[in-house]
Amino acid sequence: MRILVTGGTGFVGSHVVVALIEAGHEPVIVDNLSNSKLSVIDGIESITGFRPPFFHLDVGDQLALRDAIGEGVDGVVHLAAWKAVGESVAKPLRYYGNNVGATVRMLEVLSEVGVRNLVFSSSATVYGEPQELPLREDMATGRATNPYGWTKIMMEQVMADLAFSDPSWSMTFLRYFNPVGAHESGRIGEAPHGEPTNLMPYVSQVAAEIRPSLPVFGTDYPTRDGTPIRDYVHVMDVAEGHARAIGALSGEIGTHIYNLGTGRGTTVLELVSEFESTNQVSVPWQGHARRPGDVAETWAAVERAERDLDWRAKRDLSDMCRDAWHWQRSGLAASRSDQH
Ligand code: WQD
Repeated sequence: MRILVTGGTGFVGSHVVVALIEAGHEPVIVDNLSNSKLSVIDGIESITGFRPPFFHLDVGDQLALRDAIGEGVDGVVHLAAWKAVGESVAKPLRYYGNNVGATVRMLEVLSEVGVRNLVFSSSATVYGEPQELPLREDMATGRATNPYGWTKIMMEQVMADLAFSDPSWSMTFLRYFNPVGAHESGRIGEAPHGEPTNLMPYVSQVAAEIRPSLPVFGTDYPTRDGTPIRDYVHVMDVAEGHARAIGALSGEIGTHIYNLGTGRGTTVLELVSEFESTNQVSVPWQGHARRPGDVAETWAAVERAERDLDWRAKRDLSDMCRDAWHWQRSGLAASRSDQH
């Protein structure tokens, strides 16, 4: 199938493109390069031997998007969005405009040209503060703790309402828990600009001695070691979940929702010690105050994706730590982001 991948040069997007190629699909990448580099496509080509067509555009630019769709696509995987929680608090209008506004304009084009299969990159953040664990897809979305989270809730609502108004749509929401790691080749991975906000890239940079120590945001949570619990899932498992979804659900009208997680929770300090033992490195850390908006514990119910998509996470925490470290040492992580 010819699949349009919006945000296809991003961290998750580039891994989704690899998984789609490996599943026999023909991805076409559209990206505005606001948070990624064109050289990611070299990495995709070196892994798969296939160089996907690329259009440098913003998904809200309807003329450019229509041109990229050309004679048509069989489906869309929509990952283009900004995802920095802190930045979304500081610049809410940019986030609502870029994430929600552009998505509405994109959906107008897809409706007009007759595309009706869409897989959306959603997030466990839509559940808000967990009331019960594990988080299940039939639970109501909660109150987001930041504008980024609200944009994910709003984008799901826009797509669900569109599918309700026009039953020819097949909409799938994939709610990621915490995607981490990198493709085992070390040729693509997470390249945050400046100081990382997410845990795994920060741990990797401390291990590489780019940063002196890891700030641990809160050691007084009601968890087994006092640090927050998350459901970390290998980014290639997440990517393969997209290939499964686009194959299994295209043409299945209505709205389908799946968690992409491992169903296992890991504390911050457990991840740190796994990283150290897997890679034989040291990751010094210091306790800091809790980070506003963080939840103590969250992890996924994973039965539905196993049942409907025949998908489950295959890679464990050690694989995630090994592949993250291999990417960090590849030098590409350093060259692709201003480390200081
Ligand atoms: C994980 C844990 C931190 C950095 C966010 C978004 C989510 C998704 C993934 C986009 C927390 C702790 C972190 C550090 C730390 N983003 N931490 N020191 O916040 O669970 O999820 O990123 O799709 O939507 O909400 O991920 O990696 O930022 O934090 O102690 O330097 O690590 O407090 O407990 P999070 P994270």
